Amino acid sequence: MSKPNIRVFSSLEELSWAALTRFEELIGLEAKEKKRFSVALSGGETPKVLYEILGSEAVSIRIPWHDIHLFQVDERCVRPDHPQSNYRMIREALLSRAPIPDPNFHRMPAEWPDRQRASSHYAEEIRRVLRPKEGELPRLDLVLLGMGADGHTASLFPGTPAVDEQVLWVRENYVEKLKMHRLTLTLPVLNAAAEIIFLVSGDEKAESLREVLEGPMHPEKYPAQRVQPVQGQVSWFVDEAAARLLSRVPRSVS
Ligand code: 6PG
Repeated sequence: MSKPNIRVFSSLEELSWAALTRFEELIGLEAKEKKRFSVALSGGETPKVLYEILGSEAVSIRIPWHDIHLFQVDERCVRPDHPQSNYRMIREALLSRAPIPDPNFHRMPAEWPDRQRASSHYAEEIRRVLRPKEGELPRLDLVLLGMGADGHTASLFPGTPAVDEQVLWVRENYVEKLKMHRLTLTLPVLNAAAEIIFLVSGDEKAESLREVLEGPMHPEKYPAQRVQPVQGQVSWFVDEAAARLLSRVPRSVS
């Protein structure tokens, strides 16, 4: 596992534009090799700025969406039009504004009453699109992750069962502290990715970001520490507010 690459930006806006630059670099590289590019999108607030930039007319017209397959990292078990739905946020910021072919966005059906069936359905969708070899894990080209102030990522919250899942690619996870059911990609799938970019912004993340990046390994407390791609690169795109307690990174680079 290569050492994480940490980049500090003056604002969430700057961080998001830098993430777009990396996204386009990766698409360019992949397009030369194998055409299809796969990316898994997190929910929450932080990535919304990037998705809005991606959905803007100036940017979206230059992205080869027909070669890109978009997945969700996780989803709240609510209706897709619910205010808390990650899909709703992604649809409003990106899908409703960019010329993305419908079959290229793979929505996590977290509202299905049978969450196990929803999880296996989504895993089969991933298999159908990424076509891993028999017995191998699907390799996403890029995963965009966030991190909560408690060190969770995806819907892998400290002390919840899905954090320890080593077989299923997608599974449900009940988050007691939120009194909420979620569906989430699991660590085997995340850690099979070619590139992972954490987008972290805000003062309230500073403490946990220092613990995750500079503290001792404490993966039960900080699931984000368990994101260590086997053959992949992890980058942390953080703003100055979130980075204020870090001691070993260059100050704002832009
Ligand atoms: C979710 C996300 C989650 C998110 C973190 C950070 O469904 O909420 O996938 O893992 O990335 O909670 O959320 P913010 O970006 O809103 O701080």
